[in-house]
Amino acid sequence: MSSAKKEYKRVTTKSLVDMKSQGEKISMLTAYDYTMAKIVDGAGIDVILVGDSASNVMAGHETTLPITLDQMIYHASSVIKAIDRSLVVVDLPFGTYQSDPKEALRSAIRIMKESGAHAVKLEGGKEIKESIKRILNAGIPVMGHLGLTPQSIYKFGTYTVRAKEEKEAEQLKQDAKLLERIGCFAIVLEKIPASLAREVAESVSIPIIGIGAGKYVDGQVLVLHDMLGMTHEFNPRFLRRYLNLYEEMTDAITQYVEDVKNVDFPTDEEQY
Ligand code: KIV
Repeated sequence: MSSAKKEYKRVTTKSLVDMKSQGEKISMLTAYDYTMAKIVDGAGIDVILVGDSASNVMAGHETTLPITLDQMIYHASSVIKAIDRSLVVVDLPFGTYQSDPKEALRSAIRIMKESGAHAVKLEGGKEIKESIKRILNAGIPVMGHLGLTPQSIYKFGTYTVRAKEEKEAEQLKQDAKLLERIGCFAIVLEKIPASLAREVAESVSIPIIGIGAGKYVDGQVLVLHDMLGMTHEFNPRFLRRYLNLYEEMTDAITQYVEDVKNVDFPTDEEQY
């Protein structure tokens, strides 16, 4: 790790590759709206992911499958207005890139044109290779996503750790190499053994950003609402909660209700 950390006025896909080669870890969080994105960007995050986890966190769906392209564009365009420094990556939602490469390109173009985002993320390896190549050929940067890919939850059946078996681990390693070779600028690895994530990170020159993939990767990503403790039913081992906002917000709102009922709010000083 170099001692002098380079300052990036604006983070680009190239900055991330430079960070990896200089041993600087990459920080990434999700955001789905203007107010949160303003705080996250201002705090110095490198990458903001407008994740399709918005389907769970914002819309209350059980999985990421129902969120639409229009909804992702709405979230992304709110986020992009708040940004001074971070690189903004947007998930292509389920059903907008798997069926054919032309549709994948059309979906990616809509995100880039209508939201102003800087890059897109797609889940999968060799099975979506042609879609990724088509998007890259149009000049749109692509981040890959391997391991636990939540859009395939009905194939997996559970959200448990992926690639513990040799066969799946081997496929994942090959997919990571493939994504690097065709031109992806980074890869998210979700919920896989730390030793496998390390092997992948050491075998490619593009950054590997982990979520539940241990510490031997090039950066970390978490869902913002989880790490702030706004959600409280989701408790995987990899999640570190930096605040307990669920409790703090509940306390504040309970107090407000009480104050209104008791006519303690507003006071003389709080009226005109
Ligand atoms: O949608 C999302 O939030 C994600 C992260 C879990 C990486 O894809």
